[in-house]
Amino acid sequence: MVRGVDSAGRTAVSFLFLFLRTPIMKILIIGGGGREHAIAWKLRQSASVEKIWCAPGNGGISRDAECVPLNVGNVEAAADLATKLGADLTIVGPELPLVQGITDEFKQRGLAILGPPKMAAQLEGSKIFAKQFMTRNGIPTAGVYGAFESARAACAKLKSVAWPLVVKADGLCAGKGVLVTSAASDAQEFIERLMNGDEFGDAGKRVLLEEAIAGKELSYIILTDGTNFIPLAPTRDHKRAFDNDEGPNTGGMGTYSTDGMLTRELERQILEEIVRPTLAGLRREEMEYRGFIFFGLMLTQDGPKVLEYNCRLGDPETQAILLRADFNFAAACMDAARGKLDGSSAKWIRGASVCVVMASEGYPSQPVLGKSIGGLEEAEKAREVVVFHAGTRHEENNYYTSGGRILGVTAVGNSLAEARRIAYDAASRIDIPGAHYRKDIGLSESNQAKVAEVRANG
Ligand code: AMP
Ligand code: GLY
Repeated sequence: MVRGVDSAGRTAVSFLFLFLRTPIMKILIIGGGGREHAIAWKLRQSASVEKIWCAPGNGGISRDAECVPLNVGNVEAAADLATKLGADLTIVGPELPLVQGITDEFKQRGLAILGPPKMAAQLEGSKIFAKQFMTRNGIPTAGVYGAFESARAACAKLKSVAWPLVVKADGLCAGKGVLVTSAASDAQEFIERLMNGDEFGDAGKRVLLEEAIAGKELSYIILTDGTNFIPLAPTRDHKRAFDNDEGPNTGGMGTYSTDGMLTRELERQILEEIVRPTLAGLRREEMEYRGFIFFGLMLTQDGPKVLEYNCRLGDPETQAILLRADFNFAAACMDAARGKLDGSSAKWIRGASVCVVMASEGYPSQPVLGKSIGGLEEAEKAREVVVFHAGTRHEENNYYTSGGRILGVTAVGNSLAEARRIAYDAASRIDIPGAHYRKDIGLSESNQAKVAEVRANG
């Protein structure tokens, strides 16, 4: 069900596209994690895509795209590469190049790219910029106590805040820049670490203190050309390392997406109170945004509120989303980059998907790398399963671990319970010494669905 078109089929369809003069695209993806593998995998299913490169890619991505070396933080090198390859479109995965202005560099050189310009990427690159943007544009978010440029001023404010409190570093900190705490001593220690130490560099030089809000979190992502947009299937991430949300924060240990995750009313609220005002604010402030906007939401008793914006697709949200995508993702990306997105073009496979992240021993603090990965073929025997690679390298017909998050074992099913069963069955076939993964991805929502079903049946 989730496999791509076979190669003979692709060739035939490509000729048809040529005949119909529909552009055949060559696409460069920037990045090298599970998100970028999912993008490459999905693009490969499109008959209008002739060639895919991924820079720098990873061991598993080389199944779906030609991997080429690149330091993703070097935006000039990325533009040189796109020019040399003759890419018709570049899709940017991670935030770093966006925040560093890759889109502006490409546009100056007349190269097509999907991603916001540097100014708009500040929605992710600066929590203070994002908070001010939300306040100016009336977008619901957690209340703010202030933005501070010295640890002394921030710590002085601790005397007059309500607890629990949220302390946020202003800049990009790879998920380590936020603390939610009820203890003033912890808040003070964290502020001093951020602002006075070297650990976070410039990213910690300013901090935001904000109100802690309670509820369920939701990742709501759209693809936009600045005016029209496609809401992607909503997902929920599991950020803590271990079951029952225990252990340290990570880049994301797994996601799920299921029909009925949002009531119609909640989706309407998200669109009317958050998505449309964000797009209107960007236009009003003359930020031409063509790309993905990731709304990190808290579903509170007072309605949905924005915790954070990301200027890109999520990882591992993308893996669960693209497995359910039943439309020409490549064409949608190109249309958005050209400013001509048809907002009605997306269709989703009914049911649910689950992505279970397998991580290295010691992840997130000190991942042990270089282990061999066995059982991949066994795991991918079920046609509902795709194993996306993150920290892997390929050498002499074997895969080895090369990063903290190794694989995203992803499956679709008719229900969340079924998708979970298939994904976990596949994960159990993979053998990586010392690796760990959470056993409860999507579990509480799946249990709730079961209770609702039992109630409905009597
Ligand atoms: P952020 O990078 O802003 O999304 O923060 C990372 C995580 O911190 C979020 O996914 C939430 O779990 C938590 N968080 C951030 N802001 C708040 C808030 N205002 N109230 C409660 N939790 C928060
Ligand atoms: N999974 C959260 C993120 O991509 O930021």
